[in-house]
Amino acid sequence: MDNFFVCFLLGLICLNLAECRSYAEQIQFPALNCRKHTAILTDFGGKGDGKTLNTNAIKSAIASLSKVASDGGAQLIVPPGKWLTGSFNLISDHFTLYIHKDAILLASQEESDYPLIDPLPSYGRGRDAVGKRYASLITGTNLTDVVITGGNGTIDGQGAIWWQKFKSKKLKYTRPYLIEILFSNQLQISHLTLTNSPSWHVHPTYCRDVIVERLTIIAPVTVPNTDGINPDSCINTRIRDSYIVSGDDCIAVKSGWDQYGIKFGMPTQHLSIKGITCISPKSAVIALGSEMSGGIQDVRAEEIVAINSESGVRIKTAVGRGAYVKDIYVRNINMNTMKYAFWMSGNYGSHPDDGYDPKALPEIKNINFRDAVGKNVTIVGDLIGIEGDPFTGICISNVTVELAKKKVVEELDLFEKAKKLPWNCSDIGGVSSRVTPTPCGLLPEKEVDCAFPSDVLPIDNVVLKTCSIGFGKK
Ligand SMILES: *[C@@H]1O[C@H](CO)[C@@H](O)[C@H](O)[C@H]1NC(C)=O
Ligand SMILES: *[C@@H]1O[C@H](CO)[C@@H](O)[C@H](O)[C@H]1NC(C)=O
Ligand SMILES: *[C@@H]1O[C@H](CO)[C@@H](O)[C@H](O)[C@H]1NC(C)=O
Ligand SMILES: *[C@@H]1O[C@H](CO)[C@@H](O)[C@H](O)[C@H]1NC(C)=O
Ligand SMILES: *[C@@H]1O[C@H](CO)[C@@H](O)[C@H](O)[C@H]1NC(C)=O
Repeated sequence: MDNFFVCFLLGLICLNLAECRSYAEQIQFPALNCRKHTAILTDFGGKGDGKTLNTNAIKSAIASLSKVASDGGAQLIVPPGKWLTGSFNLISDHFTLYIHKDAILLASQEESDYPLIDPLPSYGRGRDAVGKRYASLITGTNLTDVVITGGNGTIDGQGAIWWQKFKSKKLKYTRPYLIEILFSNQLQISHLTLTNSPSWHVHPTYCRDVIVERLTIIAPVTVPNTDGINPDSCINTRIRDSYIVSGDDCIAVKSGWDQYGIKFGMPTQHLSIKGITCISPKSAVIALGSEMSGGIQDVRAEEIVAINSESGVRIKTAVGRGAYVKDIYVRNINMNTMKYAFWMSGNYGSHPDDGYDPKALPEIKNINFRDAVGKNVTIVGDLIGIEGDPFTGICISNVTVELAKKKVVEELDLFEKAKKLPWNCSDIGGVSSRVTPTPCGLLPEKEVDCAFPSDVLPIDNVVLKTCSIGFGKK
């Protein structure tokens, strides 16, 4: 570490450009904060041969760098190579993990490389199985100012073996996620390619001030639960400029599950999503829920491109969830080849156990969609609230949807339904304006532009600094 840092300093104080080129590469990257200290994984015995397990090298690098957290912070560089590793914990504040553009962090496929940890308090159990779960590949708890970034370097979850075990019901515990950071603030996850997570890819949970941007996330569209980005009980989050292909929701906004989420009571609030391209044939572009028992409020989504996805922005909830999904604003969404353009389901079911409260009804209100176009869409709106607990204040304006013409065998049932009814609504209320085809009677025409907030969230105003590192000896 010290050698590298000294070289770096010398690199900076050189007097002319020729001397400055004592590094093979000067890297610049945007980050919340730049760091004073730098180490390379090889300084701690790491081997990038794709076979050697680097978990201990990474852990000792982070432990060593954590000692200078309060002296300007530190960064760990994962250099070019293939770096096999099990789960590791980012134990340090003011820390950056930088994955070089030619580096691949390869997740170990051994269960024993993922410690067992308690379920999340707001879920009460693991999602795949009751009880404990495997720690995520990259984890962190109670941290301040943590950056996981790179020059579009790759983190490969090598999830195939986990997907198989999940399908054949051979898992005793819940699959690991790729990145899960808990109870932290000032978090940046950006400029990376994430692929083949055993389950969800990015899971910031109980966090504040979160920036997720410039991610390419790719998983097979046939594999369940490989969600892209799942902000969960987080306040002040921005998700930007990312491309996601997934077997599950591209973005799923969450806040805990039934009685556990209600008791924990931590909402997701002030979330801004902008510039997302999503391919999700089996799921939603943006799902709100189904776990929403801490509440979801103030979500703004715009400039979304959906291609070959099951649905656009979808609300998923059920009796027993409690809490609310409210003040949701969506505009400029372009959808091409979709089963559902608008989908709300009050009957999502899926309970953690029998202990949920059948009187805990979710409140769904003030949901705004505007300025959308859809092509090759099978069903325009399937909006099903809860009997005795209608979803209210739904507003849809300036939307043009072209229905799919050709029948596709696997979707025959849907097409037959759609011929009768491109909209199917029950237990909902609201208005519509300039929407084609004409919405259901529960969304009567009223001349209106649905709301979209004119203020900007503080997290949107955070400007990343430009950091630089000298890299590689000539
Ligand atoms: C995080 O902080 C909470 C509250 O201060 C504490 O109870 C918990 O043990 C901490 N967890 C970790 C992993 O540091
Ligand atoms: C990042 O890498 C992925 C996979 O190699 C590639 O598809 C994507 O275009 C790259 N993104 C950027 C911004 O370079
Ligand atoms: C329309 O959607 C169907 C699936 O529902 C797909 O097979 C077909 O290729 C799409 N057509 C176009 C023109 O995108
Ligand atoms: C209607 O929506 C389209 C995008 O689909 C947008 O270009 C146009 O400006 C919107 N019209 C109004 C009046 O807002
Ligand atoms: C409309 O939705 C209700 C409730 O989900 C369902 O029972 C009914 O079959 C649907 N109608 C059509 C024509 O799809």
